Amino acid sequence: MAMINKAVIEEVIMRTDIQSLISGYVSLKRAGSMYKGLCPFHSEKSPSFTVYPQTNSFYCFGCGSGGDAVTFIKQIEHLDYPDAVEFLARRAGITVIRDEKSFVPKEKKFDKSRMYSMNVDAANYFHRALFSDLPGAKEALSYFTEKRKLSLATIKHFGLGYAPDSFDIFSKYMISKGYTYEELVAGFLCGKSEKGNYYDSFRKRVMFPIIDVAGNVIAFGGRVLDDTKPKYKNSSDTPVFKKSRNLFALNFARHTSSEELILCEGYMDVIALHSAGFTNAVATLGTAITSEQARLMSRYTKKVIICYDSDEAGQTATAKALKIIGEVGLDVRVIVVPGSKDPDEYIKSYGSDKFREVLNGAKMEFTYKMDNILAKHDINLPHDKVNALGELEREISRVYSEAERDVYIKIVSKKFDVDAKSIKSDVERIINKNIREYKKSEEERAKQTVAGYSDKINPDFAKAPAVAKHEEIILALLMLYPEHRKTVFGENLLRIDDFFTDFNKRVFESIEKAYREFGDLPDFNEFFSPEEVGRITKMKLTRMALSANGDEVLRESISSLKSSMQKKNSSGTSTFEDLTNLINKMRGES
Ligand code: CTP
Ligand code: MN
Repeated sequence: MAMINKAVIEEVIMRTDIQSLISGYVSLKRAGSMYKGLCPFHSEKSPSFTVYPQTNSFYCFGCGSGGDAVTFIKQIEHLDYPDAVEFLARRAGITVIRDEKSFVPKEKKFDKSRMYSMNVDAANYFHRALFSDLPGAKEALSYFTEKRKLSLATIKHFGLGYAPDSFDIFSKYMISKGYTYEELVAGFLCGKSEKGNYYDSFRKRVMFPIIDVAGNVIAFGGRVLDDTKPKYKNSSDTPVFKKSRNLFALNFARHTSSEELILCEGYMDVIALHSAGFTNAVATLGTAITSEQARLMSRYTKKVIICYDSDEAGQTATAKALKIIGEVGLDVRVIVVPGSKDPDEYIKSYGSDKFREVLNGAKMEFTYKMDNILAKHDINLPHDKVNALGELEREISRVYSEAERDVYIKIVSKKFDVDAKSIKSDVERIINKNIREYKKSEEERAKQTVAGYSDKINPDFAKAPAVAKHEEIILALLMLYPEHRKTVFGENLLRIDDFFTDFNKRVFESIEKAYREFGDLPDFNEFFSPEEVGRITKMKLTRMALSANGDEVLRESISSLKSSMQKKNSSGTSTFEDLTNLINKMRGES
């Protein structure tokens, strides 16, 4: 990994205004001396993502991610440390020269830019193969042009191709271009048999290159020409591809002038829609939609129209997608193409004007769900009517806004000829019950957090919470106040062995090393994962909120740490007692 000169990093961080940086990704609202917004790293409806301009840091109280500008860019742009620094430097107009000699060795087996060029070469090969004399190529081309009715322009636009009917013709070609088998396997273009022979991953399949928003070819999907299984084969995750983070055709759709994106299930749906003029269509890559994909869409649009297959599987997937897409704050609508299995088939049978009409009739989430519930029940039968009403009341209880709930209550009241007041009180009862259950589970979770259970970042926390708590206070004091660093390291008040938990040992070690080497704090982003930096940030913020952080507090905390360690080691206090004491203590304090 490249080391970038310390002074340059400081310059970059100094010149980066964290609030304006983050505003490019998250819409922030002022809240006192801080800014708040919806966290880009997890799905939430009320903002717990907080930006602190004074300390140039951010922290999410929902998911625990936090840190500085570098941590933020690492996470949101999926970059490693030097790339994130370079990204910010470019933004601040600073030229970064990576000091090759001071490279800290880090396992980085595959050069991303080589993987990208490998994928481009592969895509070009597949595309040319479609128009070649290679075995099976003629059938492949006519599959696209005759069977799927694609024009040559569409085939070219999407860079569609053909992987020939051969075990190694493609990989031999790639080897001749200078790529290694290791790289081909890492890029999912080759597989390796038990005997150690390499074979082409895609054989006798028509090929769909997958391109990210930066224009890189990152993966491939391949379809059989007949009914054999599996119908599609897709690249699994590679060093340059994460299925759950990308969408097919977003590279095109992001440029449309349309106000919305259309989300489909399949590659062919998207291609049919684009060639019919709906260039705002995208699809997931053979998996159910993820929150990451929803957030990706929210970078380019405010509104998504789901247009999944009409069958039961497609409609079940629609319900899940509604939830996930709604959670990132996107306005989400649904259409179901009537009388066809999917949008591809619909466009072919009825044309684009008809599809436009369907699009114009896109339903809001509640209307879509209500219509589905009504379709399942005959509300002329009392029993069915009661059941349908119950299902609708449960749906309404999930709506966040009270005004919106009132709108739906009125609709249902009319439709069912039932007093709105009765529906409203039913809905409120459901909401209250849910709140009670939520509180109970939150209390349970809070207890576990105090105990440090399920603490992935510092798994030792639970073994000695009292000790770990003191460790965190001391680390926070060290990070917040240079004079405390001077005291502790100048007087040698603490050694690494005074710490019990491995994670806190690492934090202490890095602080001490940086202090002794250049008299300042380390850049935690260089040595800790973004999740770990989040925890470190939390330690600081927790302490910063308190006013008593002076020298006595430091010395007292150090002696508390040492005595709690001694107690832990000698008296044989069980973890359980330790825990109970701590919980009681915390209760007493609050
Ligand atoms: N898919 C997959 N693996 C399969 C089947 C499907 O990855 N074995 C993914 C593909 O991305 C495909 C999407 O799921 O585009 C939708 O699947 P399906 O509805 O079965 O396919 P269609 O798009 O209708 O495919 P086609 O029209 O080519 O038959
Ligand atoms: Mn189809």
